[in-house]
Amino acid sequence: AMISLRQLLDHAAEHRYGVPAFNINNLEQIQAIMQAAQKTCSPVILQASAGARKYAGEPFLRKMVEAAAEMYPDLPIVMHQDHGASPAVCLQSIRSGFTSVMMDGSLEEDAKTPASYEYNVEVTRRVVEMAHSVGVSVEGELGCLGSLESGAAGEEDGVGAAGILSHDQMLTDPGQAADFVSRTGVDALAIAIGTSHGAYKFSRQPTGDILAIDRIKEIHARLPDTHLVMHGSSSVPQEWLQIIRDHGGEIKETYGVPVAEIQEGIRNGVRKINIDTDIRLAMTGAMRRAMAKDPDEFDPRRFLKDATAAARDLCVDRFEAFGCAGMA
Ligand code: G3H
Ligand code: 13P
Ligand code: NA
Ligand code: ZN
Repeated sequence: AMISLRQLLDHAAEHRYGVPAFNINNLEQIQAIMQAAQKTCSPVILQASAGARKYAGEPFLRKMVEAAAEMYPDLPIVMHQDHGASPAVCLQSIRSGFTSVMMDGSLEEDAKTPASYEYNVEVTRRVVEMAHSVGVSVEGELGCLGSLESGAAGEEDGVGAAGILSHDQMLTDPGQAADFVSRTGVDALAIAIGTSHGAYKFSRQPTGDILAIDRIKEIHARLPDTHLVMHGSSSVPQEWLQIIRDHGGEIKETYGVPVAEIQEGIRNGVRKINIDTDIRLAMTGAMRRAMAKDPDEFDPRRFLKDATAAARDLCVDRFEAFGCAGMA
């Protein structure tokens, strides 16, 4: 059944677990996530980015998630809109049936330029007012995603690296977080702790200077009842990087967010963990391997079947590691 993010994260807080929020773009990713949830008896967050809506089209996304709910009637499913760039985008998603939306007011509507704090409060507050009137949850974001490591290539880190913002300015300020939550009424708050989107997060195994797990503890101390969200939380498994490289792929040395660090976050109020890149890496690795193994095969189902199984196994690992298994 479809439920709101608030309903799910309240349960997660009560039972002290975290929920992976996996990005969806196509049939195989949705099937992989649902198979893993069924196997582990986990509640599900399926999230669609603007890129996903462009790739699949809103009607396909909506109907595929409906199909997932029909096939797995016993599993709670949150249909979440990832990184809405404006109140208008969020309103469209609410009308389309999403049970949760993210208003990302940390950036201007171009989704690139860091926005002012007052802009962020204003757009997020407006979305909360609209969404709550129809039972839809809202995630806000405070702080700037992007690597704290100079030279590492994060999505928004042009910002930090260019010196427009200092490292400390990119991280979420605990006092401002408390003010933001009380002025906007968000159900969940995405925080910046040094992670970035994509495969190239860190050029070495992250330590406390580039992945600020302690910042989560400070924010949680100020906001013990707020559900915290970690973006850019793929772990970038070295095994999958190697499989991709062994089959003709070219991926430079890179490191993600270790599962153990996410578990430390979950002990300190993190309830939603966004993961897209890990599924991409597993599917790409599995497809490259299958194509190399059976070069005469031309039925794409052969390759997609391996890709789905690889993504499913990765999702099973995350459901179990985050304490989500058995909670549906
Ligand atoms: O927010 C980042 C997610 O990984 C979505 O990526 O915009 O390529 O769909 P995307
Ligand atoms: P990754 O790129 O680390 O998977 O992060 C995804 C994300 O934060 C989507 O909003
Ligand atoms: Na999101
Ligand atoms: Zn994100």
